[in-house]
Amino acid sequence: MSLENQFEERLRFFVDEFEKILNEYLGGLQLKPDVLNESVRYSLQVGGKRVRPALMFASAQMLGGKIADVSNFALALELIHTYSLIHDDLPAMDNDDFRRGKPSNHKVYGEGQAILAGDALLNEAYRICFSECGKGKSYIAAARLICENAGVTGMIAGQAADLYYQGKEGVNDQILTFIMQNKTAKMLTSAVVVPAEVYGVDENLIAILKEFGKNLGILFQITDDILDVTGDFEKMGKTLGKDADDGKLSAVSLYGMEASREKADYHFGLCLKLLDELPYECTFLSELTRFVRERNL
Ligand code: IPE
Ligand code: IPE
Ligand code: MG
Ligand code: MG
Ligand code: MG
Repeated sequence: MSLENQFEERLRFFVDEFEKILNEYLGGLQLKPDVLNESVRYSLQVGGKRVRPALMFASAQMLGGKIADVSNFALALELIHTYSLIHDDLPAMDNDDFRRGKPSNHKVYGEGQAILAGDALLNEAYRICFSECGKGKSYIAAARLICENAGVTGMIAGQAADLYYQGKEGVNDQILTFIMQNKTAKMLTSAVVVPAEVYGVDENLIAILKEFGKNLGILFQITDDILDVTGDFEKMGKTLGKDADDGKLSAVSLYGMEASREKADYHFGLCLKLLDELPYECTFLSELTRFVRERNL
């Protein structure tokens, strides 16, 4: 089997495993009122690439562990990611009518319920993280990492800066880097590093994994910004061309298309170099990095 086919098969396996974990979680969830029950399920089940859970499972296996060791953390991370998308699409933020190929949460349930569906997912993620803390010190460290990277020193900070600098003059590379590192790369870093925290991996190796997560995240956001211009609605499942219309500070708006592609290649190369420094079998992670660079969805 070719490397590409092996990668695709393993990615599908990770995604299928995650869907089982998610369905089991949703099977035990009976929320009242019905609108809350439906709005939460809607955004979780409407699709999504599940890149973060797949990355976490791959990282766990690379370190010699099992999916089951981190399945609850993968669930928590995807709940946080999904909440961030529901809120990101609200009229007060990016005002996006489509997500994952379907009408955005607020287009179906209204803005108030969409805010609450997001809040529900975030609170559930914390409940899950708290439960994991009972498993010992290394799980507490992993839960803390998820919270820090999702919160005021992570995704929230990036989203706040993203909104603040929309339409502003005098933006620069430093500001855009802050936005990409925080709104996107911190969540991907959690996916890579949580298993390393769980298994108590050496600090020097954790530092390399964090650097890999950061560069993969920046690559992920640069390709998202490129695809906002060149992508296909059917594949991306969200309204395209909005970054330019809304005056968003993006890789394309700051550097231009050609330089954005060069920057993507630069971070792609850095990711592979960092993986080379690890004493593990990293083929899947390097193929996943290639997938992020070459994706059209
Ligand atoms: C979209 O993330 C938000 C960004 C960080 C650019 P994904 O592209 O992973 O979205 P889904 O989960 O596949 O819908
Ligand atoms: C959002 O970045 C990142 C989040 C933390 C949700 P974008 O606003 O570019 O993501 P899309 O393009 O709406 O998916
Ligand atoms: Mg946004
Ligand atoms: Mg958006
Ligand atoms: Mg985008």
